[in-house]
Amino acid sequence: MPRAEQKRLSRNVIEFGQPMTGSPAEARRGTRRQMPRRRRLLDRHGWYEPRPEGAWTTTRQAEAWNLATNRRRTRTDGVLAGLNTISQEAEIVDAFASYGAETSGINIVVIGDIGRGKSSWIKTVCVLRQLVAGRQVVVLDKKPQAGVGEYTSIATSLGAQSIRFRTGGTGARLNLLDPAISTGGDHTGGLEGVVPAGQEALVLAVLTDAMGRRLDEREKAAVGAGLAKVTVAARGTGRDPVIRDLAMQLLDPDPADGADFGPRWSTRALEWGLEPGLALLRLADRDLRGLVDAPTSPAVRDALDTHPLVHFDVSALPTDGPALRVVMTAANTWLANRLAARSSRYQQTILVVEEGWHVAAGSTGEIFRANLKLSRGLALSTVSAFHHPADQPAGSPARSLMAEASIVVLFGQSRADDALDTVRLYRLPEGTEDTLMRLGRGQALVKIGSRDPFLLTHIRSPYEIALTDTDAAITGVASPHTQEVTSS
Ligand SMILES: Nc1ncnc2c1ncn2[C@@H]1O[C@H](COP(=O)(O)OP(=O)(O)O)[C@@H](O)[C@H]1O
Ligand SMILES: [Mg+2]
Repeated sequence: MPRAEQKRLSRNVIEFGQPMTGSPAEARRGTRRQMPRRRRLLDRHGWYEPRPEGAWTTTRQAEAWNLATNRRRTRTDGVLAGLNTISQEAEIVDAFASYGAETSGINIVVIGDIGRGKSSWIKTVCVLRQLVAGRQVVVLDKKPQAGVGEYTSIATSLGAQSIRFRTGGTGARLNLLDPAISTGGDHTGGLEGVVPAGQEALVLAVLTDAMGRRLDEREKAAVGAGLAKVTVAARGTGRDPVIRDLAMQLLDPDPADGADFGPRWSTRALEWGLEPGLALLRLADRDLRGLVDAPTSPAVRDALDTHPLVHFDVSALPTDGPALRVVMTAANTWLANRLAARSSRYQQTILVVEEGWHVAAGSTGEIFRANLKLSRGLALSTVSAFHHPADQPAGSPARSLMAEASIVVLFGQSRADDALDTVRLYRLPEGTEDTLMRLGRGQALVKIGSRDPFLLTHIRSPYEIALTDTDAAITGVASPHTQEVTSS
């Protein structure tokens, strides 16, 4: 055989993948070597058995074993939320850690039927574990459980004070005109462009809800001028202004007070505050008495500095009437102002508002949503929870609150209209409604920014189980761990 022909043949042998067995001469000839004969004696001594110890190999050969591997998460920072139901990998759900790479916002919405584990998830992933991660958590606790707010056991267990609001003046107070809330929401030394609602916007929103109509320009002018006057007057006497001062200023202004509006209107301007003044007086005397009409209680004033968990227990406030909404919006505005004023000292803060529609509605809801838009500037992540989204009409404030979240945690829903509505709201793949309706307790579909949604199984430690058990009141049997926590 000519030499060139031999070369071509040997190359083909290799290229066509035939094993190069036997001697080089055999390979060159392109013939296959015979299988070696199995010898009986060697067989008896186990010569042909697989070797128990490993044999050296290369990564190139090992590729064949790599049949179906999952793409692993690269994120390692943030708070663990449970296991990926499909891959059993640990999943992190953390608004602050996801920001930038996965989301462009830090607000979280949790949706699901009652009893599916929403509160347990929030209490662990957004409260307890976040505190461990060094973040501050403020809870507006609406749901009563055994006569107090349902976060009381967590606050007690962590040694945080529960700040209870009650109508009638026996509870805590958060002054609507608290000096920590600046008149216009701006703060010297604060972040540029981060201006939460101020006292004026807050009072106008409360008045709009109370009067059942928008204030006209004359009324707004009277309220603005009156607010400036009572603030100066109170500061002169070393105390904080309250809404009763403003009501009396509007109802009974000094004859010289109209001068701000020019000689043509100075007399008539004294009348412009009549209706807002009457409405404020009514609120101070009745619906809001003892809640937002007196100087802020020291417990509230110092709350952010005394404990990383701030528990505002508003569970005793009536849901009909303005009290609950006003207190929640005032607390939210107070918090946003406090955070805006300390721009040089960053502290990631989480605000938990379950039963989100209480803060969504009305003019106070507009304030709440406007404050929500400043979340990134304030490093304030708001976590709100809802059930039965289909009951919220299209275009309703609760719906805009739901739609604005960057992280969505969807627990089980038994009603088909709720599930379908949720799928539409978050543009989930068709058919996801069936998944939502089949989710068990503690299971959720999680969507973080534009990432593909994944199924999450929430995992709680025994300590967390004890603190998040809400069945005790119904079953009459405390969780086996509850006793350990309460008795220790
Ligand atoms: N991951 C879970 N596994 C098992 N039970 C859970 C889980 N999460 C919550 N639960 C239980 O379900 C009950 C209702 O949970 P809860 O968080 O109060 O629901 P929701 O806030 O949705 O009404 C609680 O008693 C809680 O202990
Ligand atoms: Mg709940």
